[in-house]
Amino acid sequence: MDIKILKAKENIHKEIKGLPGDKSIAHRSLIIGCIPKGTYNIYNFPKGDDCIVTLNNMEKLGVKVSYEDEYNLKVISPGIEGFKKDAGILNCDNSGTTVRLLLGLLCAANIRAILIGDESLSKRPMERILEPLQLMGGTFQCSDGKLPINTTKLSNLESIEYSMTVSSAQVKSALLIAAIVAKRNIVVKETLSTRDHTEIMMKYLGADIKCEEKSITLEKSNLCSKDMFIPGDISSAAFIIGLCLLSKESSITLKDVLLNPSRRKFIDILKAMGADINIYITETRSGELVGDIKAKSSNLKGIEIESESTPSIIDEIPLLSVLAAFSEGTTIIKSVDELKVKESNRVDGIINNLKRCGIQAHYDNGDLFIKGGNSYINKNISIESQKDHRIAMAFAVLSIRNLKNTNINHWEYTNISFPNSIKFFSEFLNMVES
Ligand code: S3P
Repeated sequence: MDIKILKAKENIHKEIKGLPGDKSIAHRSLIIGCIPKGTYNIYNFPKGDDCIVTLNNMEKLGVKVSYEDEYNLKVISPGIEGFKKDAGILNCDNSGTTVRLLLGLLCAANIRAILIGDESLSKRPMERILEPLQLMGGTFQCSDGKLPINTTKLSNLESIEYSMTVSSAQVKSALLIAAIVAKRNIVVKETLSTRDHTEIMMKYLGADIKCEEKSITLEKSNLCSKDMFIPGDISSAAFIIGLCLLSKESSITLKDVLLNPSRRKFIDILKAMGADINIYITETRSGELVGDIKAKSSNLKGIEIESESTPSIIDEIPLLSVLAAFSEGTTIIKSVDELKVKESNRVDGIINNLKRCGIQAHYDNGDLFIKGGNSYINKNISIESQKDHRIAMAFAVLSIRNLKNTNINHWEYTNISFPNSIKFFSEFLNMVES
């Protein structure tokens, strides 16, 4: 489905509630939540495609999930010992988090399965997960470090101490999940910190886990079942914030959004770019900080974003690149190579689409350069989303500064992470399906 974006709206002053639940926490609420035997509820579970993929696969493993109402799930888990030992084919479709976290769980629980995915996921690197799991004693069959992967564990996993070679929350989480399932100790050392939802959730469910700067120590622990609440997805909120910043004379308050420090780094970066944006933490729910974000239309300036920040803004780089185009001066985003192995090659997606809009951008030696100073675009543009949800949404944000029409192909992929995205984007944009 293509989407055509016509003239932007101006002067928007809104309180926005009901953002879909955070995707990263949603995956974990099922994969980690189901390790102990028991019944629990998950509140505000999002209907995004990736999260439904996780839900379907957990059902295939023997977990019973029912909708209590539209966004609230009741989960009955037989516990990891009660999972099916031969799960057959588990289709992870487009979801990197599903496949990588499941790999940790399956190999530690001695479950045979064949993990497959769509065209995009089948091209993404899995060696980064297989290598440390193999060090723990896991065995797999796959060719070229890519899907399909057969889990064929034959021996018990061992405790390890592992220094991460890529900064990835998915790798870290797979290892922590493998250790907790196999009832082993693990120390995971990070060079750069990544999102810490797995650690927070394990602690919330009773694990003996210690998080020091860049080092996580998990001692052999039992988890218990507990209800979980999923706050609004801050990475989805980011796009609505972007629209507001580029819009004329507008202000928004986004309610009940995840404000975990390992996910809100892009807000600090926006502030450094001159954005009028503030966060208000209101509570802690299921171990996670939750609150409101207020933003106003702003004049932005370009900055240099250091490599240390990359893992914490990894999902927001497409959006930040678009905002950089309308900022004063050049923006440099350092060490963006991980973006090449996301749902699509996002470095190409950012540069090629910016160029289609007449904006100068290039990649050099790991870094991304975007020349700002643009106020408005005045031409009909066709954006190639590359079937990538975040590229599609970042360029929908750009369209607010296009005086003519913007066409974006494969908008349906936004449902991967942001179900019902049109409702939220339509606060600022006039959009029609085409
Ligand atoms: C995620 C981690 C990140 C992120 C992805 C979700 C997670 O991936 O890009 O959208 O939930 O752990 P990497 O761990 O590969 O950086």
